[in-house]
Amino acid sequence: MEVRAKAPGKIILAGEHAVVHGSTAVAASIDLYTYASLQFPPLSDNDDTLKLQLKDLNLEFSWSVGKLKEAFPVDSGCIPLSPTACSPECFRIIAALVKEHNIPEAKIGLAAGVTAFLWLYTCIIGYKPAKVIVTSELPLGSGLGSSASFCVSLSAVFIALSGCVNLDLNKKGWFMFVDSELDLVNKWAFEGERLIHGKPSGIDNTVSTFGNVIKFRSGTLTRIKSSMLLKMLITNTKVGRNTKALVASVSERKLRHPDAMTAVFTSMDSISNKLATILESPAVDELAITEKEVLLEELMEMNQGLLQCMGVSHASIETVIRTTLKYKLSTKLTGAGGGGCVLTLLPTILSKTIVDKVKAELESCGFQCLTAAIGGNG
Ligand code: MEV
Repeated sequence: MEVRAKAPGKIILAGEHAVVHGSTAVAASIDLYTYASLQFPPLSDNDDTLKLQLKDLNLEFSWSVGKLKEAFPVDSGCIPLSPTACSPECFRIIAALVKEHNIPEAKIGLAAGVTAFLWLYTCIIGYKPAKVIVTSELPLGSGLGSSASFCVSLSAVFIALSGCVNLDLNKKGWFMFVDSELDLVNKWAFEGERLIHGKPSGIDNTVSTFGNVIKFRSGTLTRIKSSMLLKMLITNTKVGRNTKALVASVSERKLRHPDAMTAVFTSMDSISNKLATILESPAVDELAITEKEVLLEELMEMNQGLLQCMGVSHASIETVIRTTLKYKLSTKLTGAGGGGCVLTLLPTILSKTIVDKVKAELESCGFQCLTAAIGGNG
Protein backbone atom coordinates (compact mmCIF):
# COMPACT_ATOMS: atom_id res chain seq x y z
CA MET A 1 0.00 0.00 0.00
CA GLU A 2 1.35 3.42 -0.93
CA VAL A 3 -0.10 6.83 -0.11
CA ARG A 4 1.18 10.05 -1.60
CA ALA A 5 0.68 13.73 -0.77
CA LYS A 6 1.96 16.92 -2.31
CA ALA A 7 2.24 20.37 -0.74
CA PRO A 8 3.16 23.63 -2.48
CA GLY A 9 5.91 26.13 -1.81
CA LYS A 10 5.10 29.79 -1.21
CA ILE A 11 6.08 33.38 -1.75
CA ILE A 12 5.54 36.13 0.78
CA LEU A 13 4.10 39.21 -0.90
CA ALA A 14 4.41 41.41 2.18
CA GLY A 15 5.16 41.30 5.89
CA GLU A 16 7.90 38.69 6.38
CA HIS A 17 9.74 38.89 9.70
CA ALA A 18 7.24 41.46 11.02
CA VAL A 19 4.71 38.57 11.07
CA VAL A 20 6.87 36.83 13.70
CA HIS A 21 6.27 39.91 15.91
CA GLY A 22 2.48 39.96 15.48
CA SER A 23 2.08 42.04 12.28
CA THR A 24 0.03 41.00 9.27
CA ALA A 25 1.66 39.29 6.28
CA VAL A 26 0.31 38.23 2.89
CA ALA A 27 1.50 35.01 1.24
CA ALA A 28 0.57 32.94 -1.80
CA SER A 29 1.22 29.35 -2.79
CA ILE A 30 3.26 28.59 -5.92
CA ASP A 31 2.96 25.61 -8.24
CA LEU A 32 6.25 24.03 -7.18
CA TYR A 33 5.65 21.10 -4.85
CA THR A 34 7.18 18.72 -2.35
CA TYR A 35 5.89 15.15 -2.70
CA ALA A 36 5.87 12.61 0.13
CA SER A 37 4.99 8.95 -0.30
CA LEU A 38 4.62 6.34 2.41
CA GLN A 39 4.72 2.58 1.91
CA PHE A 40 4.14 -0.01 4.63
CA PRO A 41 5.98 -3.30 3.99
CA PRO A 42 3.87 -6.43 3.37
CA LEU A 43 2.72 -8.11 6.64
CA SER A 44 4.87 -11.17 5.88
CA ASP A 45 8.01 -9.03 5.70
CA ASN A 46 10.19 -9.17 8.83
CA ASP A 47 11.87 -5.84 8.14
CA ASP A 48 11.58 -3.68 11.27
CA THR A 49 13.04 -0.48 9.86
CA LEU A 50 11.69 2.97 9.28
CA LYS A 51 13.37 4.40 6.18
CA LEU A 52 13.46 7.96 4.95
CA GLN A 53 14.67 8.50 1.41
CA LEU A 54 15.40 12.06 0.25
CA LYS A 55 15.59 11.40 -3.44
CA ASP A 56 16.85 14.77 -4.69
CA LEU A 57 19.71 14.68 -2.21
CA ASN A 58 20.44 11.03 -2.90
CA LEU A 59 20.28 10.27 0.82
CA GLU A 60 18.66 7.48 2.78
CA PHE A 61 18.26 7.17 6.56
CA SER A 62 16.98 4.19 8.50
CA TRP A 63 16.18 3.32 12.10
CA SER A 64 15.00 0.14 13.80
CA VAL A 65 11.44 0.89 14.98
CA GLY A 66 12.03 -1.32 18.06
CA LYS A 67 14.97 0.87 19.04
CA LEU A 68 12.99 4.05 18.35
CA LYS A 69 10.29 2.83 20.73
CA GLU A 70 12.83 2.13 23.44
CA ALA A 71 14.54 5.46 22.87
CA PHE A 72 11.50 7.70 23.09
CA PRO A 73 8.16 6.09 23.74
CA VAL A 74 5.45 8.49 22.68
CA ASP A 75 2.20 8.01 24.62
CA SER A 76 -0.29 5.98 22.67
CA GLY A 77 -3.88 7.16 22.41
CA CYS A 78 -5.21 9.69 19.98
CA ILE A 79 -2.00 11.69 19.70
CA PRO A 80 -2.60 12.29 15.97
CA LEU A 81 -5.62 14.39 16.92
CA SER A 82 -3.74 16.59 19.38
CA PRO A 83 -0.54 18.00 17.88
CA THR A 84 2.20 18.07 20.48
CA ALA A 85 5.39 20.05 20.72
CA CYS A 86 8.58 18.01 21.05
CA SER A 87 9.86 18.27 24.63
CA PRO A 88 13.52 19.33 25.08
CA GLU A 89 14.32 15.84 26.38
CA CYS A 90 12.73 14.12 23.38
CA PHE A 91 14.46 16.60 21.09
CA ARG A 92 17.84 15.59 22.55
CA ILE A 93 17.07 11.90 21.97
CA ILE A 94 15.89 12.41 18.39
CA ALA A 95 18.80 14.71 17.60
CA ALA A 96 21.18 11.97 18.83
CA LEU A 97 19.44 9.41 16.59
CA VAL A 98 19.77 11.76 13.62
CA LYS A 99 23.42 12.43 14.48
CA GLU A 100 24.18 8.70 14.10
CA HIS A 101 23.83 9.32 10.36
CA ASN A 102 26.80 11.71 10.40
CA ILE A 103 25.11 14.63 8.66
CA PRO A 104 27.83 17.29 8.18
CA GLU A 105 27.63 20.31 10.52
CA ALA A 106 27.15 22.58 7.49
CA LYS A 107 23.90 20.75 6.65
CA ILE A 108 22.21 21.92 9.82
CA GLY A 109 18.89 22.41 7.97
CA LEU A 110 18.98 18.82 6.76
CA ALA A 111 19.52 17.44 10.26
CA ALA A 112 16.65 19.62 11.50
CA GLY A 113 14.39 18.32 8.70
CA VAL A 114 15.18 14.69 9.57
CA THR A 115 14.51 15.46 13.25
CA ALA A 116 11.10 16.90 12.31
CA PHE A 117 10.39 13.80 10.22
CA LEU A 118 11.07 11.42 13.13
CA TRP A 119 8.94 13.46 15.50
CA LEU A 120 5.97 13.64 13.11
CA TYR A 121 6.19 9.98 12.14
CA THR A 122 6.40 8.53 15.63
CA CYS A 123 3.69 10.81 17.03
CA ILE A 124 1.20 10.35 14.20
CA ILE A 125 1.89 6.80 12.98
CA GLY A 126 3.72 5.25 15.93
CA TYR A 127 6.38 2.54 15.53
CA LYS A 128 5.34 0.75 12.34
CA PRO A 129 8.07 -0.15 9.86
CA ALA A 130 7.68 1.89 6.66
CA LYS A 131 9.47 3.56 3.82
CA VAL A 132 8.92 7.28 3.27
CA ILE A 133 10.18 8.89 0.09
CA VAL A 134 10.36 12.66 -0.35
CA THR A 135 11.11 14.58 -3.55
CA SER A 136 10.84 18.30 -4.14
CA GLU A 137 10.70 20.77 -7.02
CA LEU A 138 11.63 23.59 -4.63
CA PRO A 139 15.16 24.91 -4.22
CA LEU A 140 16.11 24.14 -0.61
CA GLY A 141 16.46 26.90 1.96
CA SER A 142 15.86 29.70 -0.52
CA GLY A 143 12.75 31.39 0.87
CA LEU A 144 10.19 29.42 -1.14
CA GLY A 145 8.94 27.41 1.81
CA SER A 146 10.74 24.11 1.13
CA SER A 147 10.79 23.10 4.81
CA ALA A 148 7.11 23.96 5.32
CA SER A 149 6.03 21.98 2.26
CA PHE A 150 8.21 19.08 3.52
CA CYS A 151 6.38 19.16 6.89
CA VAL A 152 2.93 19.63 5.32
CA SER A 153 3.33 16.78 2.81
CA LEU A 154 4.59 14.44 5.57
CA SER A 155 1.81 15.44 7.99
CA ALA A 156 -0.78 14.86 5.26
CA VAL A 157 0.34 11.30 4.42
CA PHE A 158 0.83 10.40 8.07
CA ILE A 159 -2.59 11.72 9.08
CA ALA A 160 -4.24 9.98 6.12
CA LEU A 161 -2.82 6.67 7.39
CA SER A 162 -3.07 7.30 11.12
CA GLY A 163 -6.48 5.65 11.35
CA CYS A 164 -7.67 8.60 13.46
CA VAL A 165 -9.50 10.46 10.72
CA ASN A 166 -11.89 9.00 8.14
CA LEU A 167 -11.04 10.54 4.83
CA ASP A 168 -13.15 10.10 1.71
CA LEU A 169 -11.51 9.10 -1.55
CA ASN A 170 -12.51 11.04 -4.66
CA LYS A 171 -12.94 9.45 -8.11
CA LYS A 172 -9.24 9.87 -8.90
CA GLY A 173 -8.25 7.98 -5.74
CA TRP A 174 -7.15 11.09 -3.79
CA PHE A 175 -8.05 11.45 -0.11
CA MET A 176 -10.23 14.50 0.40
CA PHE A 177 -9.30 16.59 3.43
CA VAL A 178 -12.02 18.90 4.78
CA ASP A 179 -11.01 22.14 6.52
CA SER A 180 -10.92 20.62 10.05
CA GLU A 181 -8.57 17.87 8.83
CA LEU A 182 -6.43 20.40 6.98
CA ASP A 183 -6.28 22.26 10.27
CA LEU A 184 -4.80 19.15 11.85
CA VAL A 185 -2.28 18.75 9.02
CA ASN A 186 -1.33 22.40 9.49
CA LYS A 187 -0.92 22.10 13.27
CA TRP A 188 1.37 19.08 12.97
CA ALA A 189 3.33 20.75 10.18
CA PHE A 190 3.78 23.75 12.46
CA GLU A 191 5.32 21.49 15.12
CA GLY A 192 7.72 20.21 12.45
CA GLU A 193 8.53 23.79 11.43
CA ARG A 194 9.23 24.69 15.07
CA LEU A 195 11.81 21.91 15.22
CA ILE A 196 13.44 23.26 12.06
CA HIS A 197 13.18 27.03 12.56
CA GLY A 198 12.87 27.65 16.28
CA LYS A 199 10.22 30.38 16.41
CA PRO A 200 8.35 30.47 13.10
CA SER A 201 5.16 32.50 12.77
CA GLY A 202 3.35 29.59 11.08
CA ILE A 203 2.67 31.48 7.84
CA ASP A 204 4.71 29.10 5.65
CA ASN A 205 2.99 25.88 6.77
CA THR A 206 -0.43 27.60 6.69
CA VAL A 207 -0.14 28.77 3.08
CA SER A 208 1.33 25.40 2.05
CA THR A 209 -1.61 23.59 3.69
CA PHE A 210 -4.47 25.82 2.51
CA GLY A 211 -2.98 27.19 -0.73
CA ASN A 212 -4.25 30.27 -2.59
CA VAL A 213 -3.52 33.75 -1.25
CA ILE A 214 -3.78 34.31 2.49
CA LYS A 215 -3.49 37.07 5.03
CA PHE A 216 -1.91 35.85 8.25
CA ARG A 217 -1.65 37.44 11.67
CA SER A 218 -0.85 35.91 15.08
CA GLY A 219 -1.69 32.39 13.93
CA THR A 220 -4.96 33.42 12.25
CA LEU A 221 -5.55 32.92 8.57
CA THR A 222 -7.87 34.96 6.36
CA ARG A 223 -8.35 33.76 2.80
CA ILE A 224 -7.92 36.46 0.15
CA LYS A 225 -10.02 36.31 -2.99
CA SER A 226 -7.61 37.99 -5.37
CA SER A 227 -9.15 39.64 -8.42
CA MET A 228 -5.68 39.85 -9.99
CA LEU A 229 -3.54 37.22 -11.64
CA LEU A 230 -0.11 38.27 -10.44
CA LYS A 231 2.86 37.60 -12.67
CA MET A 232 6.07 37.40 -10.67
CA LEU A 233 9.60 36.72 -11.73
CA ILE A 234 11.33 34.71 -9.00
CA THR A 235 15.10 35.10 -8.95
CA ASN A 236 17.13 32.66 -6.91
CA THR A 237 20.34 34.40 -5.83
CA LYS A 238 21.64 30.93 -4.87
CA VAL A 239 23.07 32.49 -1.71
CA GLY A 240 22.40 30.03 1.12
CA ARG A 241 21.17 31.30 4.45
CA ASN A 242 19.62 30.16 7.67
CA THR A 243 16.04 31.25 8.45
CA LYS A 244 16.38 30.49 12.17
CA ALA A 245 19.46 32.74 12.47
CA LEU A 246 17.86 35.56 10.45
CA VAL A 247 14.66 35.48 12.51
CA ALA A 248 16.78 35.56 15.68
CA SER A 249 18.83 38.51 14.34
CA VAL A 250 15.66 40.57 13.81
CA SER A 251 14.51 39.79 17.36
CA GLU A 252 17.89 40.88 18.69
CA ARG A 253 17.68 44.15 16.72
CA LYS A 254 14.23 44.67 18.25
CA LEU A 255 15.69 44.22 21.72
CA ARG A 256 18.35 46.84 20.97
CA HIS A 257 15.97 49.32 19.27
CA PRO A 258 12.44 48.54 20.52
CA ASP A 259 10.79 51.83 19.50
CA ALA A 260 12.27 52.00 16.00
CA MET A 261 11.61 48.33 15.29
CA THR A 262 8.04 48.52 16.58
CA ALA A 263 7.46 51.38 14.14
CA VAL A 264 8.93 49.25 11.33
CA PHE A 265 6.62 46.33 12.20
CA THR A 266 3.60 48.66 12.36
CA SER A 267 4.43 50.01 8.89
CA MET A 268 4.76 46.46 7.59
CA ASP A 269 1.31 45.70 9.00
CA SER A 270 -0.19 48.66 7.08
CA ILE A 271 1.59 47.58 3.88
CA SER A 272 0.25 44.03 4.13
CA ASN A 273 -3.30 45.16 4.82
CA LYS A 274 -3.22 47.64 1.94
CA LEU A 275 -1.79 45.01 -0.40
CA ALA A 276 -4.56 42.58 0.54
CA THR A 277 -7.21 45.26 -0.05
CA ILE A 278 -5.78 46.01 -3.50
CA LEU A 279 -5.72 42.32 -4.44
CA GLU A 280 -9.34 41.92 -3.40
CA SER A 281 -10.77 45.06 -4.96
CA PRO A 282 -12.42 44.45 -8.33
CA ALA A 283 -10.51 45.45 -11.46
CA VAL A 284 -12.97 46.30 -14.19
CA ASP A 285 -10.62 46.97 -17.09
CA GLU A 286 -6.97 47.01 -18.17
CA LEU A 287 -6.46 50.55 -16.90
CA ALA A 288 -7.71 49.58 -13.45
CA ILE A 289 -5.36 46.58 -13.42
CA THR A 290 -2.41 48.79 -14.38
CA GLU A 291 -3.29 51.28 -11.65
CA LYS A 292 -3.46 48.48 -9.10
CA GLU A 293 -0.13 47.09 -10.27
CA VAL A 294 1.52 50.49 -9.76
CA LEU A 295 0.21 50.56 -6.18
CA LEU A 296 1.45 47.02 -5.58
CA GLU A 297 4.89 47.97 -6.91
CA GLU A 298 5.08 50.90 -4.49
CA LEU A 299 4.09 48.65 -1.59
CA MET A 300 6.70 46.06 -2.59
CA GLU A 301 9.38 48.78 -2.67
CA MET A 302 8.35 50.07 0.77
CA ASN A 303 8.30 46.51 2.12
CA GLN A 304 11.84 45.95 0.83
CA GLY A 305 12.99 49.23 2.42
CA LEU A 306 11.67 48.06 5.78
CA LEU A 307 13.35 44.68 5.38
CA GLN A 308 16.60 46.58 4.83
CA CYS A 309 15.89 48.41 8.12
CA MET A 310 15.62 45.01 9.78
CA GLY A 311 19.03 44.04 8.40
CA VAL A 312 17.91 41.04 6.34
CA SER A 313 18.78 42.21 2.83
CA HIS A 314 21.99 41.05 1.17
CA ALA A 315 24.40 42.24 -1.54
CA SER A 316 22.98 39.63 -3.95
CA ILE A 317 19.43 40.87 -3.31
CA GLU A 318 20.54 44.47 -3.86
CA THR A 319 22.09 43.42 -7.19
CA VAL A 320 18.74 41.98 -8.32
CA ILE A 321 16.98 45.17 -7.18
CA ARG A 322 19.44 47.42 -9.08
CA THR A 323 19.23 45.27 -12.21
CA THR A 324 15.43 45.22 -12.34
CA LEU A 325 15.20 48.93 -11.46
CA LYS A 326 16.97 49.68 -14.77
CA TYR A 327 13.80 48.32 -16.40
CA LYS A 328 11.60 50.29 -13.93
CA LEU A 329 10.53 47.07 -12.20
CA SER A 330 9.94 46.66 -8.48
CA THR A 331 11.61 43.93 -6.50
CA LYS A 332 11.61 42.65 -2.93
CA LEU A 333 13.12 39.68 -1.15
CA THR A 334 10.74 36.90 -0.13
CA GLY A 335 10.93 34.85 3.05
CA ALA A 336 13.79 35.28 5.46
CA GLY A 337 16.19 37.17 3.14
CA GLY A 338 19.97 37.13 3.58
CA GLY A 339 20.15 35.74 0.01
CA GLY A 340 17.59 33.20 -1.17
CA CYS A 341 14.82 34.21 -3.58
CA VAL A 342 13.69 37.64 -4.74
CA LEU A 343 10.36 38.65 -6.34
CA THR A 344 9.89 41.06 -9.21
CA LEU A 345 6.37 42.04 -10.22
CA LEU A 346 5.89 41.74 -13.97
CA PRO A 347 3.12 44.18 -14.96
CA THR A 348 0.57 42.85 -17.46
CA ILE A 349 1.58 45.41 -20.08
CA LEU A 350 5.28 44.44 -19.92
CA SER A 351 6.41 42.90 -23.22
CA LYS A 352 7.94 39.44 -23.40
CA THR A 353 11.05 41.00 -24.99
CA ILE A 354 11.69 43.07 -21.86
CA VAL A 355 11.02 40.10 -19.56
CA ASP A 356 13.54 38.03 -21.56
CA LYS A 357 16.10 40.87 -21.37
CA VAL A 358 15.72 41.19 -17.60
CA LYS A 359 16.05 37.43 -17.17
CA ALA A 360 19.13 37.28 -19.38
CA GLU A 361 20.79 40.09 -17.43
CA LEU A 362 20.02 38.44 -14.08
CA GLU A 363 21.22 35.06 -15.31
CA SER A 364 24.46 36.64 -16.54
CA CYS A 365 25.06 37.60 -12.86
CA GLY A 366 24.88 33.90 -11.95
CA PHE A 367 21.31 33.99 -10.66
CA GLN A 368 18.59 31.53 -11.62
CA CYS A 369 15.22 32.82 -12.84
CA LEU A 370 12.13 30.74 -12.11
CA THR A 371 8.59 31.18 -13.22
CA ALA A 372 5.71 29.86 -11.16
CA ALA A 373 1.95 30.20 -11.16
CA ILE A 374 0.75 31.88 -7.99
CA GLY A 375 -2.17 31.11 -5.67
CA GLY A 376 -3.01 27.49 -6.55
CA ASN A 377 -4.45 24.83 -4.23
CA GLY A 378 -2.72 23.63 -1.08
C1 MEV B 1 9.95 32.83 6.36
O1 MEV B 1 9.41 32.31 5.16
C2 MEV B 1 9.11 33.97 6.83
C3 MEV B 1 9.61 34.64 8.13
O2 MEV B 1 8.68 35.70 8.41
C4 MEV B 1 9.65 33.68 9.28
C5 MEV B 1 8.27 33.25 9.76
O3 MEV B 1 7.29 33.93 9.53
O4 MEV B 1 8.24 32.21 10.42
C6 MEV B 1 10.97 35.25 7.94
